[in-house]
Amino acid sequence: MIIGSRFIFCKDIESTNTYATGLLQSESVTEGTIIYTNYQSAGRGQKGNRWESEDGKNLLFSTVLYPRIIRPKDQFIISIFISLGICDFLKMLITDCKIKWPNDIYAGDDKIAGILIENSIISDAIINSVAGIGLNLNQEEFPEELPNPVSLKILTRKEYDPDYCLKQLAGCLDLRYKQVISGSWDELRNQYISSLYQLNTWRRFRSEKGILEGRIVSVTESGCLRIEEKAGNTREFLFKEIDFCI
Ligand code: BTN
Repeated sequence: MIIGSRFIFCKDIESTNTYATGLLQSESVTEGTIIYTNYQSAGRGQKGNRWESEDGKNLLFSTVLYPRIIRPKDQFIISIFISLGICDFLKMLITDCKIKWPNDIYAGDDKIAGILIENSIISDAIINSVAGIGLNLNQEEFPEELPNPVSLKILTRKEYDPDYCLKQLAGCLDLRYKQVISGSWDELRNQYISSLYQLNTWRRFRSEKGILEGRIVSVTESGCLRIEEKAGNTREFLFKEIDFCI
């Protein structure tokens, strides 16, 4: 086992990603080490957002990787394998699990997990990667400003054991990481694309240049979202350049 080779529990920390990054600067960390906590005082999300999670209710962890076979231009494969690993875990418990590009995990139309990947890149190598995951297990009430949060408990009315779930999820992530290492990248990319939330569904998107109507048809190897417009042309967007209209 690589992911989940070691577990480090840290009570009440700022952020497992921040802690893991600090640890990497001060000592050698075994690949696949998982740093997990019950509560983050400054949990970080994508686009500079905060990640809020009630004490002891959810999974909050980061794993440290040394993905030497991945060149910086291919770093999106990390988002792909982490997203698929989370879906593999969730599909053992719920039926409708999709990836909202680039790496939000959705159950139906609601967000159940988020991923924050921070790569340390020097020239043409990824020196290390810290992949942080927040997955809502037992939380039933969320801050009002969050648009569409959901948890496994809300969906299934069951209570989940965080330690058991963490070990199960680590196993799912590990299997997907081994696919990366063995070079099954096309398979991973194809499975990622077919798991996309609202793939091939006509809908409205908000881009920097205004509203556009189109459908997601694919994601490029570098992670750009490919959208076909009604006129038949295809456009590619980077993260932050496009969002779904609600
Ligand atoms: C997002 O969807 O905005 C990404 C959320 C990522 C949250 C996790 S919780 C564990 C790890 N530590 C953090 O500070 N963030 C990630």
